[in-house]
Amino acid sequence: MANTLDLSLDFVKVTESAALAASRWMGRGERDAADGAAVERMREALGNMAISGRIVIGEGERDEAPMLYIGEELGRGGVAVDIAVDPVEGTNLVANGLPNSIAVMAIAERGGLLHAPDSYMKKLAVGSKAAPYVHIDAPVRENLEAVANALEKPINDICAVILDRPRHADLIRQVREAGARIKLISDGDVDACIATAIESTGIHIAMGTGGAPEGVLAAAAIKCLGGNFMGRLEPRNDEEAQRAIAMGFGNLDRVLSIDDLVKSENVMFCATGITDGDLMHGVRFFGNHARTHSILVHASGTVRFIESVHRLGARPSR
Ligand code: FBP
Repeated sequence: MANTLDLSLDFVKVTESAALAASRWMGRGERDAADGAAVERMREALGNMAISGRIVIGEGERDEAPMLYIGEELGRGGVAVDIAVDPVEGTNLVANGLPNSIAVMAIAERGGLLHAPDSYMKKLAVGSKAAPYVHIDAPVRENLEAVANALEKPINDICAVILDRPRHADLIRQVREAGARIKLISDGDVDACIATAIESTGIHIAMGTGGAPEGVLAAAAIKCLGGNFMGRLEPRNDEEAQRAIAMGFGNLDRVLSIDDLVKSENVMFCATGITDGDLMHGVRFFGNHARTHSILVHASGTVRFIESVHRLGARPSR
């Protein structure tokens, strides 16, 4: 993907565009409008790139999503890549002006990203030091102890991040009983999973069940960062199970390793903050300008935090 690496700043411009568009809807209570604005700008920006891009994770199937649908081909022609997008990860967060909403994208060579069904996935994410010592099927306490040992911290210094959902009541109880701390989040588990793999965020492990497409996006970033991500599909009903089987998931109980989720070693991930978060600042407007904060991660392990100032009225992708 040498050519794609050359294009990495152009990919950041795509998430910047989406974040700028969505941020205009912050706190306005209209999640669909925020998403729609970001989708439109992301699609336009991808369409202008010198790539032969194919959406593998997007806004849904062709019949339900007019833009950024799964299988949509985008770009002016060039290096062939598969792209996973979430123009607004955390639509409720934007609608309510809450932290940790991001515009996000992962890029890999063709066939490099799992086509995850629009279903749920049980997830476990940790950073590089704890990566070899955890397993999605291990008891909660064992995983927390493994992380504590790997990070040379007492277990009560360990912070687990979990989506605040009734389905996680037992998981939350087990984490509390083990003595670890918890950060409950209302939405946005991509950002939370990635935070486990970046030191200084104060988040050491992410656990629980969230969207499967979001799992692939998080896994792409974590693979670049040398951490570990494991998943298992958890269809919510028979229809979702049948759909997953039709997409080629023979055994739904199978543990999906980070290499199952992200087959390619040539992967790249970028995201731009919409609202302020653990990893990035949100979009800030001042005068006739807006400041964006993005993260760009390559398979090489290099992490770049990119701050850009955009003159409003001008297209950020120029
Ligand atoms: P959206 O961006 O589609 O609003 O998803 C936000 C999110 O919180 C994800 O981060 C998470 O994986 C999923 O929703 C959890 O789903 P649910 O809200 O159904 O528990």
